[in-house]
Amino acid sequence: MAEDLSIVKGDKTAEYQSIIPQINALTTGEPDLVANLANTVAALKEQFGWFWVGFYLVKSDELVLGPFQGPVACTRIKKGRGVCGTSWAEAKTLIVPDVEAFPGHIACSSLSKSEIVVPVIRNGQVIGVLDVDSDRLDHFDETDQLFLEEIVASLDFQV
Ligand code: SME
Repeated sequence: MAEDLSIVKGDKTAEYQSIIPQINALTTGEPDLVANLANTVAALKEQFGWFWVGFYLVKSDELVLGPFQGPVACTRIKKGRGVCGTSWAEAKTLIVPDVEAFPGHIACSSLSKSEIVVPVIRNGQVIGVLDVDSDRLDHFDETDQLFLEEIVASLDFQV
């Protein structure tokens, strides 16, 4: 399936409720990891217009840049480093309202002001993270956490 997305504008919940079934339609039944991650970030970028949205994947004990939408970014992140590496180490979602206040934050772009990172967990292991950056302070909240966790949990791919 490859059709234009339907983009709804409204409150955040309505926007997630519109885009999630479309992401599911794009990814369900497709086993290829990169294809599904690529369409997921493209759909999220088109819906929300965030500054940067992408996946990092755990490879040989580092996070390595995967499919993303936005400006070029850091390629490798070690466990426990930055927001992404901390989310990986702690296996939990991190919401950072002001990246400059996060100790060890890795600045891929000085335009990024706030961030949410959601771990992708399969068989009890973190296999990657979904990272979203905004050029606005305090852009992300528990609503983003709820829906982004739902999106990564339901991503259909073979690891
Ligand atoms: N800021 C992230 C690094 C990734 S970029 O924002 C795309 C971090 O501190 O882990």
